[in-house]
Amino acid sequence: MRAVSEHADPIPTVDGDADVEAAEVPAEDRLSRLDPETRARREVALRLVRKYGDPSLKSRALPVERFDDALVEEVRRMGQLMHDALGIGLAATQLGVMHRVLVYRVEPDAPVAALVNPVLEWSGTEKEALEEGCLSLPGVLVDVDRPIHVRVRALDEHGEELTVEASGLEARVIQHEMDHLDGVLILERTSRGERKQAMRVLREEAEAAVGVAS
Ligand code: NI
Repeated sequence: MRAVSEHADPIPTVDGDADVEAAEVPAEDRLSRLDPETRARREVALRLVRKYGDPSLKSRALPVERFDDALVEEVRRMGQLMHDALGIGLAATQLGVMHRVLVYRVEPDAPVAALVNPVLEWSGTEKEALEEGCLSLPGVLVDVDRPIHVRVRALDEHGEELTVEASGLEARVIQHEMDHLDGVLILERTSRGERKQAMRVLREEAEAAVGVAS
């Protein structure tokens, strides 16, 4: 994985290397190449994702205690929504469901992985700063410094215990989504300067939305 921590430009230059795709959101150039149907499906999915300002993004989610058909269905629905949104990770809190559930998929053809009640068991000392985006923060990309290697203990949607040893993008996505379950956004994981710039982008997005509505 290539570090893009020295990136001064808020718009990432993407050269087709999947590794530099920011966490959760697809790269801009990929979005511009989408066929109309995929684009429409993405728009519908994105409307279901809570955006900056929604209180569910600032709240800590509660552990799942019941492993039933409803949970399996919730995970299936989250995976589908993530797929439609062209995201690589999604936390339940982003849909306003205050459960400690996250889904992710780093490789496009891999099955969707679900982690229920994830606990960070270990993280390496080696860190890397890379640009991250978030489905809940449209237009925002900020540098986030995170451990490159992590080990996470969790349950799957059927209540089976699992341990995930992840590195690189997979480790980054898992940490990003686990942050969501604690009500932490990437805005709180970046420098003051980048946060200021991100807040400006979010304000402009909000004003544009009001402009469209009025
Ligand atoms: Ni996010």
